[in-house]
Amino acid sequence: MHDGSGRIVVQNLTKQFGPVTAVQNLSFAVEPGSVTGFLGPNGAGKTTTLRMLLGLVKPTAGTATINGRPHDQLGNPARVVGSVLENEGFHPKRTARNHLLVYAAAIGVPDQRADEVLGLVGLSSAAHRKAGDFSLGMRQRLALATALLGDPQVLVLDEPANGLDPEGIAWLRTFLRSYASGGRTVLVSSHLLAEVEQTIDQVVIISRGQTMYHGRVDQLRGSQQARVIVLPGDGAKLATALKEAGAPDVQPMPDGWLTVAGATARQVGDLALQQGVPIYGLREETADLEKLFFQLTAGQFSAQPPQQPGWGPPPPQQQQVQYQQQQQQQQQWGGQR
Ligand SMILES: Nc1ncnc2c1ncn2[C@@H]1O[C@H](COP(=O)(O)OP(=O)(O)O)[C@@H](O)[C@H]1O
Ligand SMILES: [Mg+2]
Repeated sequence: MHDGSGRIVVQNLTKQFGPVTAVQNLSFAVEPGSVTGFLGPNGAGKTTTLRMLLGLVKPTAGTATINGRPHDQLGNPARVVGSVLENEGFHPKRTARNHLLVYAAAIGVPDQRADEVLGLVGLSSAAHRKAGDFSLGMRQRLALATALLGDPQVLVLDEPANGLDPEGIAWLRTFLRSYASGGRTVLVSSHLLAEVEQTIDQVVIISRGQTMYHGRVDQLRGSQQARVIVLPGDGAKLATALKEAGAPDVQPMPDGWLTVAGATARQVGDLALQQGVPIYGLREETADLEKLFFQLTAGQFSAQPPQQPGWGPPPPQQQQVQYQQQQQQQQQWGGQR
């Protein structure tokens, strides 16, 4: 039987559709007790990965397991994992409640559970309405209710924020966070970081079927916070001093400004004072995860977003390594405070 851990493990997973490599040697693990975002642009391979995890597509190579087992060895899988994938249809003439009763019978849970899950997703008042008359947002909620029928330990949702209005997204955020905080595992995919940024603790970012980043969102955000924009009286002198002090990346910008990665405004200001370089402007750039997301997945876009000088993306295969180097350099700089 499965190990009951609530872990999702994807190992060296590859899926080839004829000439198309949808997923390429993908590896990551998802732990219980947190909400993990599975992010990448459209066509990155998210749905294919989730379909392999749920036993709907056979991998070309590698494995995807829940609780240490592939989906087809989970016994009664609806009790272990609930999922909502793209384009899942409902019988349009069937009411929401009747739809749930059919599924409840199929997985062997009592009818009363249908009413419970309607309550959980805020659809109680629409229980007797036909699913065919539902808005996209209501259909998303009904799909989620269906996934919750078996009270699963692991929840896998493919683009759940699609079609939700801001209120629906806020509701989903609260729901998923409380679901995970009870020690369950939640994996949600999205092609829009902004849509799930406030919901997720961990993130797996993929592009063209490959992992570009895997880790905590706050670490990703932290890596972006330490960027200072400064207008010194003597740019060359300050840049040299900054580099000597261990700042990993100092770049000149138009109009005499410098961008300093891996430093705080205080560090830059103190150093300028020591060096006797006057400062005419100084600010710390706030975390812009969206920009980083574009950079990490840029290889997949034909049209890239505008970039500032010295801030452009390296080739995809170098990004993760470069990201780690940048992290190490930041730690060194931090140690010199
Ligand atoms: N059944 C299929 N047959 C052929 N190609 C497919 C199939 N499913 C997905 N693909 C291709 O695999 C790639 C990844 O698709 P998908 O997993 O749907 O990405 P995402 O969910 O990240 O948008 C795309 O190039 C897509 O066209
Ligand atoms: Mg998809």
